[in-house]
Amino acid sequence: MGFTRRDALKAGVFAGAAVLVPVGRAVQARGSLENRMPAKLLPKPFTVPFAVPPVAVPVRTDATTDYYRIRMAPAVLEVLPGYRTEFYAYNGSVPGPTIKARQGRPVVARFVNELPARHRTLQYEPYTSVHLHGSASLPQYDGYASDITRPGQYKDYRYPNVQNARTLWYHDHGVHHTAENVYQGLAAQYHLSDAEERALRLPSGEFDVPLIIGDAMFDKNGALLFSLDDKDGMWGDVILVNGRPWPAMPVKRRKYRFRILNGSVARSYVLSLSTGDEITFIGTDGGLMRTPQKAPSFLLANAERYEVVIDFAKYPPGTRVVLRNTSPRRNTDYPGIENVMAFDVTDQAFDTAGNAVPAVLRTADPIMELQPAQAVRSRYLRFRRQNGLWTVNGNTWETVVASNFRFTEAEPRRGDVEIWELDNKSGGWVHPVHIHLVDFKVMTRNGLPRRPWESGPKDVVMVGENETVKVITRFDGAGKYMIHCHNLIHEDHDMMSQFRVVDPNGQEFDPFSAPPVPLPERTPL
Ligand code: C2O
Ligand code: CU
Ligand code: CU
Repeated sequence: MGFTRRDALKAGVFAGAAVLVPVGRAVQARGSLENRMPAKLLPKPFTVPFAVPPVAVPVRTDATTDYYRIRMAPAVLEVLPGYRTEFYAYNGSVPGPTIKARQGRPVVARFVNELPARHRTLQYEPYTSVHLHGSASLPQYDGYASDITRPGQYKDYRYPNVQNARTLWYHDHGVHHTAENVYQGLAAQYHLSDAEERALRLPSGEFDVPLIIGDAMFDKNGALLFSLDDKDGMWGDVILVNGRPWPAMPVKRRKYRFRILNGSVARSYVLSLSTGDEITFIGTDGGLMRTPQKAPSFLLANAERYEVVIDFAKYPPGTRVVLRNTSPRRNTDYPGIENVMAFDVTDQAFDTAGNAVPAVLRTADPIMELQPAQAVRSRYLRFRRQNGLWTVNGNTWETVVASNFRFTEAEPRRGDVEIWELDNKSGGWVHPVHIHLVDFKVMTRNGLPRRPWESGPKDVVMVGENETVKVITRFDGAGKYMIHCHNLIHEDHDMMSQFRVVDPNGQEFDPFSAPPVPLPERTPL
């Protein structure tokens, strides 16, 4: 192996480069709330048609693998009717194209950074690091924040697709600029299926629908506003579903499977249906639950995925069912955020195939079967605001950078089962905590049972004000992985640290061991 990025960092080749910019100077807020587009010029809720992101098409497939090529480049799109807005897009689409993968068939995705050398208004260098959130990828393909691909470079990411069926998402993770990059559009879903899931015959095809929920704010000319006036988050006054403001979706009188993802920078939601009817939950971040759960409303924290089934059969044609948001505490709210989207029930005929939810969705779930007695140790991770910084156990990503990426919060051995207590005892803020690599089982929140919709494997959990959430997991894999708050403003400033899974047989990989490659491309796919 040649000269790696880590060697370069050791040798000081990148001294002064963006990865080493001290916290606090990395983001220059240019947007001011005063330039905000007046609410009366925003589209009325449910006037814009619903759409789903395109499905990504491989550039090549061979006996074992599907190959994708995804450009990251500016794209001007009409999101607010009558206005043109510049985004940063995966293959020209916001959200990006959905990648459909099958268990046992790896994906190689070439992410090509064709972004400009400087952001036009924010003035930062839009380097990228692509994370497939929900995948147990090797460290060098996990979107390690400091493993950056600069404008004019590309990197090939290898996704093993060995896990059970689940809804994943790929999004940018570039150090200190994840919030801007994701806000501007670098986010998309990735669906992994497996044979057991396919045999269930859940709603499929046009009845299996991604819903990526986000919020945004626009200026008077229709440009995206990125305001850090509020250091706690970036709060939009427009709710977008799949990049459309408050869209209306015509639905047939049958069951739909919705893969709901909160792709917002900071906003969390409490979602419910205007009919008051219960929602059926079939999956969480880490795939299907053992059995469906029901609840009339649920908290959707940043980066969480919930798969739900809504049956529109009971509503007469002409009924409008609104997906509503009663915003949880500690969001900054604006008029309009109480609506997400509408489902307009039609009398269109439909194919009745895949119109059931089986009582048992998974026969075995190794994560949800974990018991406290299996744990070899417990650890505490404290999420706090300290000296003007967001910290994990008093540390930030700068601690990790300053240690030459050696510092870790925890070093479980491969195969160890551990209980982690995630605590946010200080109050005033909420932290959706994400642990890379693993799925975990939420055991308790402040000693009380988890919420019904959390009854499946997860990789993000909301740790609310004055809450301690206990999770249990098994550390398979090896090497260094991030742990951070998924409020991307907290993450970038700098509530992110790492752990290392130690392989006693020495099989560990370095996050910098597959460095990005400059364009022009030497090895075309
Ligand atoms: Cu969805 Cu570390 O990220
Ligand atoms: Cu992740
Ligand atoms: Cu946080």
